[in-house]
Amino acid sequence: MDGQDGLLFEGVPLQTIASAVGTPCWVTGAGTLRRRTRNLRKAFTERGVDIALHYAMKANDHQATLSVLRQEGCGADVVSGGELRRAIQAGIDPAHIVFSGVGKTDAELMLALQEEIGQINVESVEELRRLSRLARASSLTARVALRVNPHIDAGTHDKISTGRLGDKFGIDWDDAPTLYREASKLPGIEIRGLATHIGSQILTPTPFKAAYTRIAELVSGLRSEGLTVTMVDCGGGLGVRYRDELAPPPAALAGAIVETLGGLDLQLAIEPGRWIAAPAGLLLASIIDLKAQREGVSDFVIVDAAMNDLARPSLYDSWHGIIPLAPDLAYAETAPQTVVGPVCESSDVLAKDRLLPALRPGDQIAVLDTGAYGSVMSSTYNSRPLAAQVMIENGKWQIIRKRQNLESLWSDDVVPDWLDGAGT
Ligand code: LLP
Repeated sequence: MDGQDGLLFEGVPLQTIASAVGTPCWVTGAGTLRRRTRNLRKAFTERGVDIALHYAMKANDHQATLSVLRQEGCGADVVSGGELRRAIQAGIDPAHIVFSGVGKTDAELMLALQEEIGQINVESVEELRRLSRLARASSLTARVALRVNPHIDAGTHDKISTGRLGDKFGIDWDDAPTLYREASKLPGIEIRGLATHIGSQILTPTPFKAAYTRIAELVSGLRSEGLTVTMVDCGGGLGVRYRDELAPPPAALAGAIVETLGGLDLQLAIEPGRWIAAPAGLLLASIIDLKAQREGVSDFVIVDAAMNDLARPSLYDSWHGIIPLAPDLAYAETAPQTVVGPVCESSDVLAKDRLLPALRPGDQIAVLDTGAYGSVMSSTYNSRPLAAQVMIENGKWQIIRKRQNLESLWSDDVVPDWLDGAGT
């Protein structure tokens, strides 16, 4: 808050943006993206490690975000042909692109081969053999890491855990050595090392350390057989503070990696998404109406952003801070209120029983820390167009995506010929 300007983000009054662009509207702070990327890298360089940062673009894949992160020296972690093309479109050098994902189609693998990307993280024996066939048939070489599932519970939300026995990701721990041996002999495959990713929004270094300890043992075991292991991709997952969590600093992740893998003469890489992008974004919304409830039940604040815009609260019961933009509301008395969107689902709740000042229709709010897994997970459910997007840098701001126009919601629909004149 600053005088009459109300809530500021990177020096820009958010009321100005909300009023000029309308709501709902996503705002990305390029300065925050840059600062966090630099801090993350510094945690490693301070420990003498030159880590490769492959930004997990699933967190926020806007071309402007990708361009900022490319300027900051990041490559990209991609999980589909679409993301691969988007990363290349943003000018990211294919040599700095890693392709992860449990279900890569032949067409996607061919695209990765033809673009000669830096690394394909293979997740099964079937995929490894298929990739070898495709590479051989086209006389291309796939640089490969085996993504192993270390059977570690990262202690995070069930829906974003990926490294436990029974999770669909990665090669089973026990099968990894056999598959590595096979990969080292397969035509078209240049096996470079190992990858792992145990989950997202991880709030202690302990599971990271446990996973990397296992990986370090595997590296040593494979090398003792004469196999070559030159790199380890340590995945993403570093959590952030949304409410009052004690989120570990980057130094904790760097420490876990350096202590376990630092002495093994490996090229090291990570794939952070949330840690870089979440605090770099917010969602602006306006109050449509207030709906009073009987004594003892929180009143409803109905806003124009909904679960189709920000899916995280309805999907994972996640908590996001909410701050009114107007300066006179900054210090007003608060009462518990439940902030809901207009979508016809009871799960369309952005914040339940939240202490907020008395809001009025037309007041604007910011939903905080929505820069990762926010706009990218939006849908047009209930025929609600995708929200506008704005980027801020150095006190300047610009619309980076117009609000989707309504006609585009149905312009690709085709009504079968035989329905013409139906009902007449
Ligand atoms: N690498 C791989 C292979 C991944 O699967 C993921 C995330 C990342 C890196 C990046 O993880 P991060 O650094 O962002 O934690 N929609 C969920 C999060 C899903 C994460 C999926 N994988 C949410 O909103 O919480």
